[in-house]
Amino acid sequence: MELREHAWDILRARTLRAKLEPPPPGLTDEKPRPGYRLTAPVRPASLAMEMHRQAKVPPADAMHDPAQKIRILHALANHELQAAELFAWAILAFPDAPAEFRQGLIKIMTDEQRHCAMYVRRIHGLGGRFGAFPVSSQFWKAIQEVETPLQFICTMGLTFENANLDFAVEYIDAARAIGDTETARILEMVHGDEIGHVAFAWFWLERWKPAGIDAWATYCANVKPPLGPERARGATFDTRSRQEAGFDDAFIDNLRATDPTKPGGAPR
Ligand SMILES: [Fe+2]
Ligand SMILES: [Fe+2]
Repeated sequence: MELREHAWDILRARTLRAKLEPPPPGLTDEKPRPGYRLTAPVRPASLAMEMHRQAKVPPADAMHDPAQKIRILHALANHELQAAELFAWAILAFPDAPAEFRQGLIKIMTDEQRHCAMYVRRIHGLGGRFGAFPVSSQFWKAIQEVETPLQFICTMGLTFENANLDFAVEYIDAARAIGDTETARILEMVHGDEIGHVAFAWFWLERWKPAGIDAWATYCANVKPPLGPERARGATFDTRSRQEAGFDDAFIDNLRATDPTKPGGAPR
């Protein structure tokens, strides 16, 4: 089976179980087809995305309220599902990208599937159901603007996943503060993997940045408004995760000096 065939299966799956099906062993990547930029995935009816409305994620300090905690985990599970879909999207969109990059995409897609499954299990453990609330299409909306592999890593890895390094720490602290070690443990595992995903994006940013242009300028030139550095961090700033991801000091300093904003543009 070809990599792109598995990517299609994930994007066209009608059940959550099929969405989260890990890749079969021995996928090949030998018969590229012209790049295809899908505008929206097929989804189970209960997880149909609101393409025009922003589904709000409760802030970390709402974690003490059991009902809000389920809504937080619900939103995080949907983020992971969107991420899995969009790494599959990139496999279809960029057939000419280096083989090593494409293998990285499928590996990250598999991580995102696992993250989604962990959050879904936790939601069920807390008496909730994945699909009980409206879900946002935030990542899918942003991907419509992406035309190149460089723009893809700047959007997914260096904006959304980058910002999640901070949000995850905020949620971990909130879960610990209420004594929910099980939720904290899941968040910590995801956070550890996400550092690796951001490191993947950084690796390719370094490779693809034009001669004489630094990483920060390349990032800023390859992420389209309303995304940008303001959306690549949280209200808190986890320097150590960025160091572990391999960012250079100038990039970290520039991001730390940026005022974060929420999806609507309000200060965070
Ligand atoms: Fe993830
Ligand atoms: Fe990720």
